Amino acid sequence: DWNMPDYVEEAVARIREQVGSDDVILGLSGGVDSSVAAALIHKAIGDQLTCVFVDHGLLRLNEAEQVMKIFGEHLGVNVIHVDATEAFMSKLAGETDPEKKRKIIGKEFVEVFQDEASKRKSARWLAQGTIYPDVIESAGAKTGKAVAIKSHHNVGGLPETLNLQLLEPLRELFKDEVRELGIALGLPHHMVYRHPFPGPGLGVRILGEVKKEYADLLRKADAIFIEELRNTVDEASGKSWYDLTSQAFAVFLPVKSVGVMGDGRTYDYVVALRAVQTSDFMTADWAQLPYPLLGRVSSRIINEVRGINRVVYDVSSKPPATIEWE
Ligand code: XMP
Repeated sequence: DWNMPDYVEEAVARIREQVGSDDVILGLSGGVDSSVAAALIHKAIGDQLTCVFVDHGLLRLNEAEQVMKIFGEHLGVNVIHVDATEAFMSKLAGETDPEKKRKIIGKEFVEVFQDEASKRKSARWLAQGTIYPDVIESAGAKTGKAVAIKSHHNVGGLPETLNLQLLEPLRELFKDEVRELGIALGLPHHMVYRHPFPGPGLGVRILGEVKKEYADLLRKADAIFIEELRNTVDEASGKSWYDLTSQAFAVFLPVKSVGVMGDGRTYDYVVALRAVQTSDFMTADWAQLPYPLLGRVSSRIINEVRGINRVVYDVSSKPPATIEWE
């Protein structure tokens, strides 16, 4: 049986024993796993931990501020916020191929992280939020997206170049245990129970070439969609549509269509809404969101996001479609 307070004590003791008085660095993404790992390690060794938060400019609205607020101000964790937006945008300029975009983002991510890490000469350990399913996944699959997915945020290749030992305190835990642990460590519910977000971020949700202008439009549209999902409660279950879906987001289509606004004609971009229900993300059904909810999201996006004049809903399941559009 699993007893949370005991588990926290044991895990803290194990980390202290493992690292002693050494310094540790951790790549914080704002996702559940790296966040819980950071909170746990911080509880164990306090200021011996430094988190590096690489901001690739492809995060959601206010995400960087939220991460800095929760970890920096609220939990008192040392966090270095590296705003690498310009570097990522210039590397991505002109690239339209989805896999090449992923590779560029992954490579740049490792470089930026490595740069920061090498400045911290005292660090002896690299902490990662690897959880049990990741361990199984990378032991099994040798090709395909499963490995590519993990190669990004679990910064593969870093330990050798930086000469750091790996610290992976969540290696034995399943996702729901990681979430429980996060709550026990004082992380906010909305952070611990948030939908997964891919490492390449909005880079795979802006079809084709990534531009800052597109990312800014997409961030606004996505925030409206998520806000409405959180605020709309399904009467039958008493749950919000955010909690009733496994993943939901907006996708930017670099396609212009004609609209009217006032007495003028508009010629603006299209946003697609995607919401799925799934237990394992290997297969997924498109979510049957209530029409009134879709209607509100659509009119808010079109009214509030200048540059978007059309919203469509993705009714494709996986397979044959994937959850992300790239
Ligand atoms: P797909 O689109 O393949 O996505 O149905 C399945 C799940 O994986 C996430 N995903 C990624 N996560 N890096 C990540 O960290 C990636 O490159 C990546 N591609 C897809 C996706 O958000 C979904 O949860």
